Amino acid sequence: MSVHTEVRKVTTHTLQRMKLNGERISMITAYDYSFAKIFDAAGIDVILVGDSASNVMAGHETTLPITLDQMIYHASSVIRGTNRSFVIVDLPFGSYQSNSKEALASAVRIMKETGAHAIKVEGGEEILESVKRILGAGVPVMGHLGLTPQSIYKFGTYTVRAREEAEAEKLKKDALLLEQAGCFGLVLEKIPADLARQVSESLHIPTIGIGAGRHCDGQVLVMHDMLGINTEFKPRFLRQYLNIHEQATSAVQAYINDVKSRNFPSESEQY
Ligand code: KIV
Repeated sequence: MSVHTEVRKVTTHTLQRMKLNGERISMITAYDYSFAKIFDAAGIDVILVGDSASNVMAGHETTLPITLDQMIYHASSVIRGTNRSFVIVDLPFGSYQSNSKEALASAVRIMKETGAHAIKVEGGEEILESVKRILGAGVPVMGHLGLTPQSIYKFGTYTVRAREEAEAEKLKKDALLLEQAGCFGLVLEKIPADLARQVSESLHIPTIGIGAGRHCDGQVLVMHDMLGINTEFKPRFLRQYLNIHEQATSAVQAYINDVKSRNFPSESEQY
């Protein structure tokens, strides 16, 4: 007799149910097969193939340079390492802002060429037509409000957004518009915790916070930050769970010493 154990995959319905049940959603970024495999097996609910790949994988200062082709490369690698987690892919800067037809074409390429489950876009009212068109084609869309890194040159800094009444009101209005359009979830980045609480309580769809406090329905962190691969970025909201930078440095130094001292390879490490 064979015992058939089927993996229960995370879907948009799972995320909706988690919000209803008050169960927090865990989300992390990944950009390659090997880390996606670790995170999926560890039990993460959602993997985001973020355009932060532009910073942490390619070494650019902002998320602006990464291309749709490069996002597709990262996303298809992540999908090959994933079995249970729900995978969302960022539409990169310039691939959806000019018109809704271009936005749909970009979203279709992501879905067709990577096997991902959803896309994420930054902005509210300004991109609503594109959001509706993508949703109309049956592609799940996640919104992203607050600090939206693709607009960094408009903001000028990476400081907390929506502290002022007018910006907070616009954010609340945009959140509602995205929910009404049919988005299945919303990332809230670097906004006051109380504003994130108000938005999370007013929406039926889950909110996922990064630097947006404890009242969001879930949390997301960039893997390089939380694993301590990149140790230069230390914002207040970040909890660092490992220091890979330190451990990898020590490991490679030990390897260098072993090679130089002829300690590696040993008798038992050769044929
Ligand atoms: O690109 C990214 O990693 C993101 C997260 C910070 C939410 O959008």
